[in-house]
Formats: sequence, structure tokens, C-alpha cells
Amino acid sequence: MMFPRLFEKGKIGSLVLDNRIMKAPTFGCMANPDGSVTERLIRSYEEVARGGVGLVIVESAAIDQKSSGGMPGGISIATTEHIPGQASLAQAIHDLGAKAALQLGHAGRDKFSTTIPAKAPSRIPGPTPTLGGRRHLSP
Ligand SMILES: Cc1cc2nc3c(=O)[nH]c(=O)nc-3n(C[C@H](O)[C@H](O)[C@H](O)COP(=O)(O)O)c2cc1C
Repeated sequence: MMFPRLFEKGKIGSLVLDNRIMKAPTFGCMANPDGSVTERLIRSYEEVARGGVGLVIVESAAIDQKSSGGMPGGISIATTEHIPGQASLAQAIHDLGAKAALQLGHAGRDKFSTTIPAKAPSRIPGPTPTLGGRRHLSP
């Protein structure tokens, strides 16, 4: 066998995984416009968990509702209102035997918005024009 340890238990700190297969975060643009999870989004992660991976890394989640969303339909964890949906998503993944992690996201200069200026660390423009303008944080 090419990867003899793939199906052995894995450990990240105190987190024990059933195997060493991990699902990389990939945004699916299935969230509501406010970044809350939808039934469709939960069903898609259930399919991944049902496939038998040890750890599902949920797609990049905006940490600041106004300036960090990278994609329409992207998920957000910026407000307390997002918590119940996130809890349901984690539960759905756990119910199928996988562990769940969440990627924190800040799209910086590539933030999606037509009205709110993007916050970016430097003056360097992104590959595509940023709608809504940019506010760089460097001097
Ligand atoms: C549709 C799509 C969505 C993605 N979303 C994310 C994401 O939310 N966060 C992230 O770090 N990478 C994201 N990626 C990158 C993937 O996680 C992965 O790193 C990339 O596809 C390279 O792996 P590969 O060479 O096996 O395709 C995305 C990729 C695709 C194709």
C-alpha cells in the first residue's frame, strides 16, 4: 500500500481523527446573502462527511461582516446570529463520524462588495479591480 498510515487514527493536539484523510476548504457559494448557512450547504458537507474523511475543513468564513467577505454566497461567522447555523453544520458533520474545523477568512484586497471599501495590508492592487474602493493599512 502506498500510504500505509492513511487509515490509522490521527491526532491534532487533543483532537483524535478516525483517519488521516482531510477535506481541504473549498467555498461552494451556498450561504445566504448574510453569510448564514443554508440547508443546501449543510447537505453538501454531509456528503463529504459520509465519504469517510477524518476531518472536514469547512470553507473560508468571513470574520468581519463588513470588510472580509470574499465571495457572494460565502459563509460568515462575524455575528452571534451566525452561531446557530454553524452549530447545526458542525453537528451534521459530527453525526456522520467526521471531525469539523473551520477556516477563518479575510479576503483583504479581494473582498467582495460594491459599496464598502476593502481593507488591505498594503497599497499593492489585486489581480482584479476591487469594487467599492480600497483602504490600505500600511503607511
Ligand atoms: C471551488 C474552490 C473553492 C476553494 N475554496 C477555498 C477556500 O475556501 N479556502 C482555501 O484555503 N482554499 C480554497 N480553495 C483551494 C483548495 O482548498 C485547494 O487548496 C486547491 O484546490 C489546491 O488543491 P488541489 O491541487 O488538490 O486542487 C478552493 C479551491 C476551489 C477549486
